[in-house]
Amino acid sequence: MRYFVSKTVSPSDCLIIGIFKDQDVAQLSYLSAAQQASLQAILSLGDFTGKPGQVLLQYAVQNFDAKRVILCGLGEASRYSLAAIRKSMQAVGKVLIECHASSAQVLLPKVEDDEAFLRQAIISLEDAHIRRDQLKTKPAPMHWPEKISFVGEYEQSNAALAQGEIIANAIRLSKDLANSPANFSTPKIIADRATEIAKKDKLSVEVYDKHALQELKMGCLLGVAQGSSEEPRMVVMRYEGAAASEPPIVLVGKGITFDSGGISLKPGARMDEMKYDMCGAASVIASVHAAAQLNLPINVIAVAVLAENMPSGNALKPGDVLTSMSGKTVEVLNTDAEGRLVLCDALTFVERFNPKAVINVATLTGAIIITLGSEANGLMGNNEDLIQTILCAGQSSGDRAWQLPLYDEYQELIDSAFADIANMGNNDGAKSIVAGCFLARFAEKYPWAHLDIAGTAWRGPGNMQRAATGRPVPLLIEYLMQQAQQSK
Ligand code: BES
Ligand code: MN
Ligand code: ZN
Repeated sequence: MRYFVSKTVSPSDCLIIGIFKDQDVAQLSYLSAAQQASLQAILSLGDFTGKPGQVLLQYAVQNFDAKRVILCGLGEASRYSLAAIRKSMQAVGKVLIECHASSAQVLLPKVEDDEAFLRQAIISLEDAHIRRDQLKTKPAPMHWPEKISFVGEYEQSNAALAQGEIIANAIRLSKDLANSPANFSTPKIIADRATEIAKKDKLSVEVYDKHALQELKMGCLLGVAQGSSEEPRMVVMRYEGAAASEPPIVLVGKGITFDSGGISLKPGARMDEMKYDMCGAASVIASVHAAAQLNLPINVIAVAVLAENMPSGNALKPGDVLTSMSGKTVEVLNTDAEGRLVLCDALTFVERFNPKAVINVATLTGAIIITLGSEANGLMGNNEDLIQTILCAGQSSGDRAWQLPLYDEYQELIDSAFADIANMGNNDGAKSIVAGCFLARFAEKYPWAHLDIAGTAWRGPGNMQRAATGRPVPLLIEYLMQQAQQSK
C-alpha cells in the first residue's frame, strides 16, 4: 500500500495543498497560523490564482516542514467536485513524477462522499505514474513517492484507498499493454501476458489459437489475420465473484495488434499509432483483472480478439466474401474495416455465456474522432437501460461517453449484392454509426453496447506526446462497481 490517510500534517518531502480561487487561507485549518501567513504572502503576489489544474512547485517555503510545497488550483469553491479533483490531481501527478520526493502529503477539502473522493484522487494522481522507456538502452530512474497520505477526517477510508490503488494499477496495466510496440505485442505475446495475469488473479483463462478458431468457424477473424505471419488468438478470462448461475457481464475488446489497413493500405503518416488498435483488448483485460482484485460480487468475462492486419500475398482482398461464425456472409469492401470483422465473430461466440450484458470496446473508426474528438467515447447499443447505465458510469468516472443513434434506416447502408452484409457503407456519411450497425447485426441475442474509443484511447501525435490514456478502463470499472452495488 502506498496510500494512507492522516489526521495531521507531518514533515514530508512534499506537501500538496489544494487552493480555491480567492482562497481564504484561514480556512486551511490543518496549517498553523504561521504557515497560513507564508501561504498568504505567496498568494498575494497574484501569480497563482487557483484556477483548475494550475500547479506551482516551490522550495524552502517559510514555516513549512516540507522540502517542497506544491500548490494546486481547485477552481471556484462553489463548483468543487470530483471533476476539480481529477483535473488538479492529474496536474500534480505530472509535477510529482519530475520530483525526487519519496513521501508526500495531500491537503484537499473533502467532498461529500469520502470514498469516491479518495478513489478519484489516487486514480488521477497516478495518471502520470507510467513508464514508456523500457526499451531505451539506459532508461532514466523513475521517481514516485513511496508513501502518500491524505490529510483530513476520513471515515471508512481503508477500502477506498485500496480500491483507488487497484483501479490505478489496472489503468496502468492497460496503458502498458497498449504503449508496447507491435513487434513486442503480437497476438501470441498478449495472450501469454493475459494468461499470466489471469493465473495471478486466479481467473480461469482459455486461449484459442488459429486451429481452435478454425474449429469455432470464426471465418471473419481468421480472414483478417490471414495476411499476417502472426497467427490470431482469442483470449477468454473469467472472473466468478457470484454464483455460477448468475449471468455474467461480458466485455469484448478489439485487439488488432497492428492495423496497416491490409490491402486497403493506410497512408503512411502516423501509421505508427496503429499499434494502439488493440486498446479495446487491453482495456477489457485490465478491467476483468480489476474486478478480481476488487472482489466484486458479480461474474465478469473478458474476451480479447487478437490479430494483426497486414497486406501480403495471402491477405484478404477487397471484394472477398467471408463466412462469419454466425453463418452470415460478409463482403469485405475495405480490408481496413477489420475491427468489425474480428468483433462480429466474438459477438457470436459470447452468446454461449447467456450474458446479462455485453459491452464491446474498440478503436473502431477514425470518424468518431471527427465527431467527439478526444473527450467522449462514442456509445451505441440495442438496449436503452444499458446505454443509460453506461452514460452514468462515464459521468461519475469522468471517462465520459456520448450516445449515437443506431436507427434502422442506417442499416441499408451496409446491404450487399454479393453477401448478407458489407463491411462498409455505400457512402461517406455516418461511418461510426455504420460500424455500430454492422456489429448490431451480430448482437441481437442480448443487451449490447459498443464503445468506440478511437478518439480517447491514446494521445498523439508528436514523438514525445504519444501515450495510451488507459480509457475506457475508468468507465468500465465504474460500471462494474455499480453493478456489484446493485447485486448486493
Ligand atoms: N483502427 C481503425 C480506426 C482508426 C483510424 C482509429 C484512425 C484511430 C485513428 C479502423 O480499423 C479503421 O481503419 N476504420 C476505417 C473504416 C473505414 C474503412 C470504413 C476508418 O475509420 O477509416
Ligand atoms: Mn482498420
Ligand atoms: Zn483498426
